[in-house]
Amino acid sequence: MSAPLLEVRGLHHWFGGLHVIDGVSFVCQPQTVKAIIGPNGAGKTTLFNLVAGALSPVGGSIFFDGIPTTGLPPHRIAAHGISRTFQATRLFPRMTVLENVMVGMHGRSRHGFLAGMAGPAVTRREEARVRVSCLDVLSSLGIADLARRDAQDLPFGRQRVVELARALASGPRLLLLDEPACGLNPRETEEMAVLIGSLRARGITVLVVDHDMSLVMGISDEVLVLSFGQTIAEGTPREIQANPEVIQVYLGADDA
Ligand SMILES: Nc1ncnc2c1ncn2[C@@H]1O[C@H](COP(=O)(O)OP(=O)(O)O)[C@@H](O)[C@H]1O
Ligand SMILES: [Mg+2]
Repeated sequence: MSAPLLEVRGLHHWFGGLHVIDGVSFVCQPQTVKAIIGPNGAGKTTLFNLVAGALSPVGGSIFFDGIPTTGLPPHRIAAHGISRTFQATRLFPRMTVLENVMVGMHGRSRHGFLAGMAGPAVTRREEARVRVSCLDVLSSLGIADLARRDAQDLPFGRQRVVELARALASGPRLLLLDEPACGLNPRETEEMAVLIGSLRARGITVLVVDHDMSLVMGISDEVLVLSFGQTIAEGTPREIQANPEVIQVYLGADDA
């Protein structure tokens, strides 16, 4: 087996007196999709915030491609090749789809696209390069035709795909997707599942949180079940679906 792309070791995080991440350890192998499921409040988003650097853990360590990234600020972690989407939509509503995606690539462009709009030829060339690259990302997700539309004019399901495009624009090796199917109808959820599944073939490793069991079980190589900040099970979708403890605390729960 190859070396893991992401390794989380004995992670702990508290909010005040609340032990939200309580000794979580796992690895993500390259070019796999791993899902994290668990009831609301289990600590899934907090775990993403710790991996992405939005929060610094109280204890434990995180390695990305063998490099310790524990406690690094988000931009440093992003520069290593980790990108994310958020549970709630964070598009700029009055910017076009293409502009929203270009924001995601900002970190990879040498000058930044805003500077490129006003700057000398070299930055304009850079901006043109960014634009072409972002159009490529839109094409790869089947939404190039939406490039010039304002984000706010798109149906919600398309907005979620634009967010995926923005996260892909920086060319990440690891993508963290926080509830990408939340609010999507069954057809949009199926489309999202196909898109996420296709990332593997592009060499991208995916860590995804979602409540939609058909999506999670359909696209994941492995599933980790979190409850009150602890791992209660980890395995293939088939193993997880047959695990009595998982069925009791999660799959049978009201908010599943
Ligand atoms: N910034 C915060 N300050 C205090 N408590 C928080 C904060 N963020 C999350 N929590 C609490 O931590 C727990 C885990 O939250 P979260 O990671 O969002 O769970 P999940 O994504 O699994 O629903 C919840 O009890 C939540 O209320
Ligand atoms: Mg959450």
